[in-house]
Amino acid sequence: MASKRILTVGTANLDFLIKTPYVPSRGETMISEGEYAYVPGGKGANSAVAAARLGSEVVFCTRVGDDAYGDRLLRIYAENGVDPRYIKVDRAEQTGLAVVMLERSGDNRIIVFPGANKNINDTDIENAFLSYPDAVLTQFECGVKQVITTARLAEEQALPLFVDAGPAIPDFPLSKLGKVEVFSPNETETAVLTGIRPNTPDDCLRASIALCNKVDIKYVVLKLGDRGAFIYDGKYCDIVEGYEVNAIDTTAAGDAFTAALTVEYLRGKDIYAAVKYANAVGALTTTKVGALNSLPREADVKKFLAEIEQ
Ligand code: RIB
Repeated sequence: MASKRILTVGTANLDFLIKTPYVPSRGETMISEGEYAYVPGGKGANSAVAAARLGSEVVFCTRVGDDAYGDRLLRIYAENGVDPRYIKVDRAEQTGLAVVMLERSGDNRIIVFPGANKNINDTDIENAFLSYPDAVLTQFECGVKQVITTARLAEEQALPLFVDAGPAIPDFPLSKLGKVEVFSPNETETAVLTGIRPNTPDDCLRASIALCNKVDIKYVVLKLGDRGAFIYDGKYCDIVEGYEVNAIDTTAAGDAFTAALTVEYLRGKDIYAAVKYANAVGALTTTKVGALNSLPREADVKKFLAEIEQ
């Protein structure tokens, strides 16, 4: 079966990664651990490259600055087989940058400078839809207006839309999203969008119903970190447990999860099988440091699942 073409409309960042024992509190100065690094990231780019590494054809719509970071990112996307035709080099803004503080526990705190990403406009997105995609994947990080345009075009072309609700945007106008195939927030995003922290299965169900009351969603998939994921289809719900791994950096695990879910679902798998696969990809992503660099390839996922199922 020919692989499906996924259009990803999203952000491209360079991540400034610095390791710290813990995040300093107000007025506190912290000495970092190990070396710092500039590594590729951005929720859109992480998702695009994750899907490409898992075997999908990927068209990426984004903007980078006309600078050395932008050049570096373009090279990395090409090396990963991502179709660059709808990536614009923006002469007015710098390439997006994220400061990623990685704690010893593997958790992170991230501050994003959007730069060129914020100039992704309707024309960029409309042009990218000319690539004949089979499905569309986007994240809130590229901006409210951009997500709404993407959703409108996906609905007009009857394309399944996969939405990663990261990062949390309070007051995001969810009702403007139209039809969504899969809507996938993490725990923080769920709490911000619904006011309900998805701690227990009942909380997950209440939060999912609250989301379905605002958006026409086929499947809500709540990302619950190492607890796995919660699925709600408007009638039934279930938790698909996560995999235990030696997690050292959770950066990009959520991006990889939603991309993997999209890839596997488009291969014709049901939502449970797609979430199980996405759990494996998300878990593997946490076993390496960095965002894009930590994304597994299809062969890694197959090996991991085969070893677990032995
Ligand atoms: O989800 C992780 C990503 O969030 C990082 O790569 C960073 O660039 C921010 O966009």
